[in-house]
Amino acid sequence: MSLSQVDIVAVDEGAAFWDDRSALLAGLRENPPRIPAHFGYDARGSDLFELITELPDYYLTRVEYGLLQRNAGEIADLIGGGPIAEMGSGSAKKTRLLLAACVERRATRYLPIDVSREMLEASGRDLTAQLPGLRVRGLWGRYEAGLAWLRDSVPEPLTVSFLGSNFGNMPLEERDKLLSEIVGTLRPGDGFLVSVDLLKPARVLESAYNDPAGRSAFTPFRLNHLDHLNRRFGGNFDARNFSTRAHFDSVTGTVDARVYANEDHFVALHELDLELNLRRGDSLNVGLSHKFRREQFVADVTARGLELRAQWTDEEWQYGIFLFTRSSGRREAADEI
Ligand SMILES: C[S@@+](CC[C@H](N)C(=O)[O-])C[C@H]1O[C@@H](n2cnc3c(N)ncnc32)[C@H](O)[C@@H]1O
Repeated sequence: MSLSQVDIVAVDEGAAFWDDRSALLAGLRENPPRIPAHFGYDARGSDLFELITELPDYYLTRVEYGLLQRNAGEIADLIGGGPIAEMGSGSAKKTRLLLAACVERRATRYLPIDVSREMLEASGRDLTAQLPGLRVRGLWGRYEAGLAWLRDSVPEPLTVSFLGSNFGNMPLEERDKLLSEIVGTLRPGDGFLVSVDLLKPARVLESAYNDPAGRSAFTPFRLNHLDHLNRRFGGNFDARNFSTRAHFDSVTGTVDARVYANEDHFVALHELDLELNLRRGDSLNVGLSHKFRREQFVADVTARGLELRAQWTDEEWQYGIFLFTRSSGRREAADEI
């Protein structure tokens, strides 16, 4: 393997997962139609997401970065020496702080799971160049496929991390199911390190999740979902016919990002045999971001048999990082939970 190559395993349907239409069809049949989050992260979408993290009101990256800067050493001490897997690792810019603290203490193995091969390659190259003592193996595929690989292949004590508040980026039922799979992957002593964004006023959330005047990051990121579907499924979405907006639904506690049709028109996705009859103002969901109540989140996770070991929040209680451990029972198949 040359220095510039990153060790990547295609864990999900031999990398054919992008063409899996069942999740997409199920989402598009919801009301409003929903494009599952991972379709936002082709190569272009992954780059566009990085622009979002630089928007001044998008506090999430900044606050989590600060929390990790202050607490990475303590987290590294608590999680012990086994491999660290990460769900939806992206550029891993924040995770690098934790990995740096780990390699100061011991040789460390990092197993990022992501649908974006481009991000796995770029982050793997950067991390191994910056952190001698770190071994990286990218698990290319969806979360569930990455967890299945971990269950089969990682005998050592394991930490599954889920940073960047990605855990909130799916509907409640999906989140519940995924949490069961995570718990089912852990054995006694294994850790679950997860960050979530905490509930806050609608005006703060809506300015964080919409483009400020003169800057454009959310708009191209959201419209890129449509271009991506065009390429994969023979679609004819014309992004110029849509505008985007996110609003906070205080009943569900979720920021709901949509693209809205600017005029009446039809869109076909030929390979799905699907036609959408859109009226002006009709919308498709292209992103969910749930905001958690801290006590409720901890109660939900501990109800699955995990124990809260430590938690870190910023002074304004905007954001939380939580370390849970599995205290008893064997590592089980997810469907036994
Ligand atoms: C919101 S970004 C966050 C990236 C990174 N954790 C951060 O905080 O900067 C979500 C990441 O999760 C990945 N992702 C989204 N859905 C996924 C899925 N179902 N399976 C695997 N990766 C997924 C995306 O490719 C993207 O890199």
